[in-house]
Amino acid sequence: MAAFSESDTLKRVKPSPTLAVTAKARELARQGKKVISLGAGEPDFDTPENICDAAVKAIKRGETRYTDVDGIPELKAAICEKFKRENGLDYKTTQVHVAPGGKPVIYNAMMASLNPGDEVVIPAPYWVSYPDMVLLAGGTPVFAVGEMSTGFKLLPETLEAAITPKTKWLILNSPSNPSGAAYTGAELKALGEVLKRHPQVWILTDDMYEHLTFDNFEYTTIAQVVPELYDRTLTMNGVSKAYSMTGWRIGYAAGPEPLIKAMQKIESQSTSNPCSIAQWAAVEALNGPQDFIAERAAIFQKRRDLVVAMLNNAKGIHCPTPEGAFYVYPTIKDLIGKQAPSGKIINSDEDFAGELLQQEEVAVVHGAAFGLSPFFRISYATSEAVLTEACSRIQRFCASLK
Ligand SMILES: Cc1ncc(COP(=O)(O)O)c(C=O)c1O
Repeated sequence: MAAFSESDTLKRVKPSPTLAVTAKARELARQGKKVISLGAGEPDFDTPENICDAAVKAIKRGETRYTDVDGIPELKAAICEKFKRENGLDYKTTQVHVAPGGKPVIYNAMMASLNPGDEVVIPAPYWVSYPDMVLLAGGTPVFAVGEMSTGFKLLPETLEAAITPKTKWLILNSPSNPSGAAYTGAELKALGEVLKRHPQVWILTDDMYEHLTFDNFEYTTIAQVVPELYDRTLTMNGVSKAYSMTGWRIGYAAGPEPLIKAMQKIESQSTSNPCSIAQWAAVEALNGPQDFIAERAAIFQKRRDLVVAMLNNAKGIHCPTPEGAFYVYPTIKDLIGKQAPSGKIINSDEDFAGELLQQEEVAVVHGAAFGLSPFFRISYATSEAVLTEACSRIQRFCASLK
């Protein structure tokens, strides 16, 4: 029997490092360790009752068959209404794509548009899946670093330097996973000025964390503040984070019709339609009461403040205060070269995360996974009690480094 061999495409791709950290933490927990995992990126809240009820009703009504490949008309209409209501953006239902999660939306867009040699500008630190999805689709990721000193944001001059005649896409993500950085309207306009000079560049804006912003941050998205880019922008969003529906698997995007049609073609030959029941639940999510979103964001803001304060009290850590999402991205620059009680020298953020897990049983994700070192990411989508315990352990760990 011939041994299994991976495809050449797959050889270029690495498995998700955030899922790997969660798996490692689970394994230690199985061994009886009291592990606190701050690795996973999902809200700890339940899906609201009205959304669950809508799903049950859909089952009882018999909404259990194949649907239109890229979404039922009712959900597409609810998405158009959402974009109008919340973002001031006009889209027709023919401009809308629905897929089993935000992740496949991005994947479909890359598969539908990239040829070998096409470049995709990805601001770092980035969500772990962007580069690998670009590679899977045959494209080339080009990284543009946003430094901590400028809030981890992509600056216009950095964007300008990253663009070449081969650039097909810029992927924007605001608020960002992993840094929590969110772009103001003025910052998006400044990036827009650069993009206007490069008409070959399309923009994919990943607005997944739109509803998780703090301190009265005024959220905007690029097609809204730079209307000249509307015709080459794919505005992507989903119900996973805002509505605590990670397991339901519904993501969506709106953009120019030819791109949407091409994405539908990919979906028709891969996943087919997203779950019919989850689609009806998403209709209720988008059309139903929205007040709980702000209430939950306020809870996340309190947790952010707790975590930022406690981490800034850990020896050698500096933690900036992010505008949104549920992540912080502190630096461990001052801890590089220190020695842990085990004898291990901390030479990288990966060493830091590894030793922290071994010594204090706290799982975090090292910054190298997100393309910017030496940092680590904490997901604070868990209770204040757990966060307090985790941050105390991190403080103890940092104090033990010599
Ligand atoms: C920035 C960002 N985009 C997209 C997604 C994917 O969302 P979904 O779970 O709907 O596929 C995530 C999930 O972690 C994310 O952090």
